[in-house]
Amino acid sequence: MGFKSSNICILFLLIQIQAISPSNNCRILKGSSELKCNGSYPKKSAGSSNITEIYLTNVTWEYLEIDDILNKFPNVERIFVEYSDITTIIVPTISNKIKELSLRYNQLKKLPQDFVKNFPNLEILNIQNNLLTNLEDNFYMGKLQKLTIKNNPWICALDLSWALHLNQTIVHDLKNATCKERFAGKNILLIANYKQEMYRNCTKSCACSLENVVQDLHTDQQHPIIMVNCSGRGLKDLPTQLPLYTRILHLERNEITDLRPLKSNPMFESLWDLYLDNNTVTSISYLEGSHWLQNFRVFSLRGNQLQKVPSFALDNALMKNPNMPGAVVLYLGNNPWRCDCIFVPTFQEYVLQKYSNRIADISDVKCKYVEGDENSWSAIINLSRSSVCMVPSDFSLQEGLDLLNAVLASLIIFILGKLAYDYYHFKKSGRLPWIVTKIP
Ligand SMILES: *[C@@H]1O[C@H](CO)[C@@H](O)[C@H](O)[C@H]1NC(C)=O
Ligand SMILES: *[C@@H]1O[C@H](CO)[C@@H](O)[C@H](O)[C@H]1NC(C)=O
Ligand SMILES: *[C@@H]1O[C@H](CO)[C@@H](O)[C@H](O)[C@H]1NC(C)=O
Ligand SMILES: *[C@@H]1O[C@H](CO)[C@@H](O)[C@H](O)[C@H]1NC(C)=O
Ligand SMILES: *[C@@H]1O[C@H](CO)[C@@H](O)[C@H](O)[C@H]1NC(C)=O
Ligand SMILES: *[C@@H]1O[C@H](CO)[C@@H](O)[C@H](O)[C@H]1NC(C)=O
Ligand SMILES: *[C@@H]1O[C@H](CO)[C@@H](O)[C@H](O)[C@H]1NC(C)=O
Ligand SMILES: *[C@@H]1O[C@H](CO)[C@@H](O)[C@H](O)[C@H]1NC(C)=O
Ligand SMILES: *[C@@H]1O[C@H](CO)[C@@H](O)[C@H](O)[C@H]1NC(C)=O
Repeated sequence: MGFKSSNICILFLLIQIQAISPSNNCRILKGSSELKCNGSYPKKSAGSSNITEIYLTNVTWEYLEIDDILNKFPNVERIFVEYSDITTIIVPTISNKIKELSLRYNQLKKLPQDFVKNFPNLEILNIQNNLLTNLEDNFYMGKLQKLTIKNNPWICALDLSWALHLNQTIVHDLKNATCKERFAGKNILLIANYKQEMYRNCTKSCACSLENVVQDLHTDQQHPIIMVNCSGRGLKDLPTQLPLYTRILHLERNEITDLRPLKSNPMFESLWDLYLDNNTVTSISYLEGSHWLQNFRVFSLRGNQLQKVPSFALDNALMKNPNMPGAVVLYLGNNPWRCDCIFVPTFQEYVLQKYSNRIADISDVKCKYVEGDENSWSAIINLSRSSVCMVPSDFSLQEGLDLLNAVLASLIIFILGKLAYDYYHFKKSGRLPWIVTKIP
């Protein structure tokens, strides 16, 4: 009896294989409920209503039409199309019982909109190892219980709020999904969270961007590097609020004069790079002894109203700065530097010459332009001491002599005039001048 039924079974199987599969690449397994094909796909569909699982590997189509499968195998519940070249999936238009769909190891670049809505019974979806760059925001999950997404080139330069909205119980490998290109290798959820916090706390009317995520050498923890761009916003003061981990602050083309908050507000202690080009800063002397001056990396004061800086204090701070020498860059050009004999020699010696390779625009560090003063033309570092000290004192001696000459000349004229007057008076009245009567 058993022999007979198994005979019938084999016969049936043979008929079915012939019906389904003209090639030898397909196999029917598990009592005719499972179809496995490698490289090609059955053309006929007779006797296939019992098939509930389909495994296709190494198929060469670009498009996967689910309707095409459903027309041949209407009762299919699990579809695995893997290790193939599928770039596009065409969602079903006919009702289906599909519970599991695996598309791993394909070339999918994009999922159709509201993908899961087309599979009302879908519980498991695997799209790992494709070429997906992002999912829709508020990705529709329906009845999904398990979604696998790792090993896709997720682009983290784009908005990542879609990742924040995913249910981590369902997207069980969300912690294993990493970014491609920008922030390469970092977890998408980590980047998404940094960005969310940064946008929430971004300085009003400024633009915030996540530049990098780095490993802290001491604590081994990851930290974001945030850039805040407030350039050309008409600001009169330094911002009073910055997102945590703001390392780079752009404030070019504003009207900022006072940098005192750099010393008084501890928020600036975590700042590395500050760009203040084309503002109206007149002094940095109050930054003496500040955390900022001893720890900055980039300090750009190009195009401000500085006439002098505290040279010794700056030298002192730079010597203590742990970012010296490699990472420190100063910009001091295009300021109206006052070229007098008191300021220039120390400025030259303790700042310009000592840190010439740290001052990026040293050739623009020139004296305030004065008509006819040729010192205005060359860089202060190249001014000779005699041109700032001797020449002006020569000038003042000359001026003094000129003045003395003028006084003496007018005295001579006065005395001669007085003499002429006295002589005329004596001739006329015979009276001696008053002064002569007093001389014994
Ligand atoms: C599937 O077919 C390819 C040729 O198209 C062959 O190289 C490969 O070994 C086959 N895989 C299996 C599991 O039979
Ligand atoms: C399909 O399944 C039913 C019930 O399990 C069975 O009676 C029938 O023989 C199967 N048909 C084929 C073609 O395997
Ligand atoms: C697909 O075919 C290629 C050769 O064409 C083979 O190297 C590869 O192993 C096959 N993949 C599977 C899953 O059978
Ligand atoms: C996430 O999905 C699980 C399982 O479906 C569910 O129990 C849970 O409530 C969901 N969480 C959220 C926040 O929706
Ligand atoms: C995530 O990656 C870790 C380490 O690579 C691995 O042990 C773990 O199984 C992965 N989890 C999932 C859900 O893929
Ligand atoms: C925003 O900034 C405040 C104060 O600087 C800080 O306490 C908070 O953690 C930051 N993040 C968010 C998301 O508010
Ligand atoms: C800052 O924003 C301005 C426009 O508001 C832009 O021109 C400038 O390039 C930005 N700077 C940086 C460093 O991104
Ligand atoms: C500052 O102003 C000068 C002169 O107007 C201009 O050439 C330069 O590009 C400006 N720099 C910045 C960073 O805006
Ligand atoms: C200073 O003068 C030297 C020699 O003339 C010249 O090579 C150098 O470029 C000048 N430096 C600046 C900053 O102008």
